[in-house]
Amino acid sequence: MHYSTDYKNSIENKSDFWKQQASKLYWKKFPEMILNSKDDNAYDWFSDGLTNMSYLCIDAQIEQGRGNQTAIIYDSPVTNIIQKISYIDLKEEVENLAGVLRHKGLRKGDTCIIYMPMIPQAVFSMLACARLGVIHSVVFGGFAPNELALRIEDAKPKMIISADFGIEFDKKIYYKPLLDDAINLSNYKPQNCLIYHRDVENVVLDNKIYLDYVSEVCKKYTASVEWFSSTHPLYILYTSGTTGKPKGIVRDTGGYATALKYTMDHIYNTHAGEVFWAASDVGWVVGHSYIVYGPLLQGCTTVLFEGKPIRTPDAGTFWRVCHQHQVKTMFTAPTAIRAIKKEDFEGVFLNKYDLSNLRYLFLAGERCDPATFDWAKSRLQIPVIDHWWQTESGWPMLALEMSNPTSPNPKAGSSNYPVSGFDVQILDEEGNVLNAHQEGFVAIKLPLPPGCLIALWNQPHGFHQSYLSKFEGYYLAGDGGYFDEEGYFYIMGRIDDVINVAGHRLSTGEMEEILASHPDIAECAVVGIDDALRGQRPIGFVVLKDQVEKSLEQIQEETIQKIRSYIGAVAFYRNTVVVKRLPKTRSGKILRKNLRMLADAIEFTIPSTIDDPVILDEIKEALEMQKIGKMFDI
Ligand code: COA
Ligand code: AMP
Repeated sequence: MHYSTDYKNSIENKSDFWKQQASKLYWKKFPEMILNSKDDNAYDWFSDGLTNMSYLCIDAQIEQGRGNQTAIIYDSPVTNIIQKISYIDLKEEVENLAGVLRHKGLRKGDTCIIYMPMIPQAVFSMLACARLGVIHSVVFGGFAPNELALRIEDAKPKMIISADFGIEFDKKIYYKPLLDDAINLSNYKPQNCLIYHRDVENVVLDNKIYLDYVSEVCKKYTASVEWFSSTHPLYILYTSGTTGKPKGIVRDTGGYATALKYTMDHIYNTHAGEVFWAASDVGWVVGHSYIVYGPLLQGCTTVLFEGKPIRTPDAGTFWRVCHQHQVKTMFTAPTAIRAIKKEDFEGVFLNKYDLSNLRYLFLAGERCDPATFDWAKSRLQIPVIDHWWQTESGWPMLALEMSNPTSPNPKAGSSNYPVSGFDVQILDEEGNVLNAHQEGFVAIKLPLPPGCLIALWNQPHGFHQSYLSKFEGYYLAGDGGYFDEEGYFYIMGRIDDVINVAGHRLSTGEMEEILASHPDIAECAVVGIDDALRGQRPIGFVVLKDQVEKSLEQIQEETIQKIRSYIGAVAFYRNTVVVKRLPKTRSGKILRKNLRMLADAIEFTIPSTIDDPVILDEIKEALEMQKIGKMFDI
């Protein structure tokens, strides 16, 4: 049923297929062991190969004559800066920074947290770590100190690299106080923090572990490339699971590089010298794979955009970037397109720009609703490809190969076809393979192709327990979905406590833990409800302890602040519904799905397992009284 011959080959002749893909990259030592099975149903790829991701992204490009080509265009409408950095300049920046890390005692296998806004120094930091085999963990700048502290505690970084501030629209977000708080909260303390001061007039080093990035880099220590096994971890990227503790996804080096190269060639059809723009953030997996590593190892020019789709300064900013930098391939989240569509439905801003270089718009991070897909397609008149992937996979699992002339057309509402290497199946609760139009668990038949997670950091059996234990021989993706009679797949949403708010993956389980720690709350449930702009947003249902005399407004205010200060403003937690009781099954399980449906004003049949159906009426009344939910959405 699949349209691509590559796909068939990738499933039936895995080792040969991926060996051939790996041969398209430079290796210090080309691997002889291609696919190697380990305990617990895990596999590794290319384990005896020697490589270095920083070398692939910089030195290998210079050796191929791209030294003077622009590697990074930093486009920052919030500071009015546009800076072009060539591959040669990138090498110098990265070597000097790697020298600082080495001088401060960082060695292969050490960890380094990068907590930075969207500035070139964030990319230099990632590549400098990669050069030395230092495992980086980038933490999204929108996370609050508590989230950063959890990551510091788990990753135990010798060094943290940060900046003095980031900019959100016209507001400065000062990182230093957030970093201070996080270090105070964590039992583990880093040896040093390297702070990049954007405000050069105001270099504050009030703590002896803090160092000034620019002064250190100017010392020009330099460090040369080291070679590592393909399976050496390039990075840890924390992502939301079902509990308050984020999961540290560990990525290898050589398998990841091979997979990214494959996708740049085949999915994105973007080659050396062309401009690739992923309008995401380096704090997310999209940023790792397609702002930094994928485009650079392909010899492209990558755009690092410090702005928003709207109000920086207007809804034409994305198209201005595409026009000005001659972007060939663009990638963003449906939320960004929804925001632009809302402000520029008629395409007045869009029509101001020449977009003749733009060939493809890829969307991912959350489900793309057909109305958004249709709007983008009709306005841009180019293929709009919704593709599905996760922090865990590191690259798309469902998409279309734009390099393939026989590629079918993208379909609204679908994330399209399985990508080479991913044997995607829909399973029922017992693990039986389902047929077209039967909705079930989205699972990938093992082994996973190169570049997917190799472990969970600090959890020796975590990978197996979280992903491989439900269905023997399959990776459980955590999403529900189905495919149609033509083989197009549809991802319908998470089957666990994870929600997607503006393309940001967050855990409602974690929000429940935070609310439950409020002294007045006896019991709570957090669910993701529909949000016209962000796709989903969380709301909380809380039962107060007896004798609490606070007003509803006070409870709202305190709970909103609590989520904001623990997770960050990005959680977009704006409503707490105070209820008398929560609906539960007779065995005591909270009926979260029904809470969500009540708030979304979706009719449903009362579950037969419910303990007391009257509670549903009470919840409906509370929603109406507090004017919360779909019917009252702003
Ligand atoms: N650092 C600090 N704070 C951040 C942040 C960051 N990197 N990103 C978001 N926030 C804050 C916002 O400032 C806002 O704070 P406020 O409550 O004080 O106003 C809050 O988090 C909620 O942000 P958001 O939901 O993004 O709403 P918004 O009105 O600020 O912006 C959009 C709306 C649509 C413009 C924005 O969500 C967007 O650009 N979405 C696309 C996201 C994306 O590309 N995701 C891809 C991941 S692959
Ligand atoms: P993250 O790990 O942050 O990339 O989030 C991964 C999750 O986002 C997936 O498990 C899906 O729930 C959701 N997701 C990502 N891309 C898509 C898509 N194209 N369609 C539907 N859901 C998506």
